[in-house]
Amino acid sequence: MTAGLTRGDARDDLARVERIVRDAARLMTQADRAHLGTRLKTSRRDMVTAYDRAVQDRLVAALAADFPGVGFLCEEGGELSQRDGVRFVIDPIDGTANFVHGTGVSAVSVGLVDGADPVLGVVYEPFSDECYAAAAGHGATRNGVALPQVEDVQLADALVCVGSSPYFPDLYQRTMDLLARRAREFNDIRRDGSAACDCCYVADGRYGLFFEMSLAPWDFAAGALVARECGAWVGTMEGAPLTYADRVSVLAGAPRAAEAFLKGEGH
Ligand code: IPD
Ligand code: CA
Repeated sequence: MTAGLTRGDARDDLARVERIVRDAARLMTQADRAHLGTRLKTSRRDMVTAYDRAVQDRLVAALAADFPGVGFLCEEGGELSQRDGVRFVIDPIDGTANFVHGTGVSAVSVGLVDGADPVLGVVYEPFSDECYAAAAGHGATRNGVALPQVEDVQLADALVCVGSSPYFPDLYQRTMDLLARRAREFNDIRRDGSAACDCCYVADGRYGLFFEMSLAPWDFAAGALVARECGAWVGTMEGAPLTYADRVSVLAGAPRAAEAFLKGEGH
């Protein structure tokens, strides 16, 4: 039985969460694109739409009904901000800027975390219809098919996906400086714009490495578990384990690529 939940084993719980996530994500594909209700949050790069809140409300209502007693930590909604214990960690639309600009790569991301331990994770990208799901110790799937362990590529062979920390000007600049310093060590760089998807694309081998200097728990709780369950190295850019209460840097990748990256940063 999944810690803190009342029925089923981890894979049953995961299937229930996956159904709830897929249902909520229909709000994104059925969105009235002429009326997204876009507003700015902390800066002109940091957007939220009426659909972010609508997806979150649908997720919370369904999860609360199905998993009574489990708390919530949600991107859109300070009132739902349990930072310890057993909680769903929710990013209703990760990649909101992509959603607004219509470029795809925007996902519903729901993790279940017990204290500092990720238990379940579902990341569903409805525009490509790719659903990643993982339960700690049980591996990960994409659209129900088990994902193999990641190929242990070297940094020189790794396509490196970069998260630019767009809402933090100083970190944005530091990211560009890091790339200027180190990108020649990589096969090449990519920027997709959804940390949840970025982690899952490490899990399925598209990328050999992903890093971002500052992410909130809801950006990575689910995706990092998917990557870890596929044998990726997952932690902070300082080489420490991830935590799930406040913002941290995130590094996920093939173990050899991650080790070489960390060594080059002096860790
Ligand atoms: C953002 C995306 C983006 C990352 C930002 C996140 P949001 O989440 O994951 O890729 O670079 O740091 O905040 O704002 O679209 O939910
Ligand atoms: Ca996010």
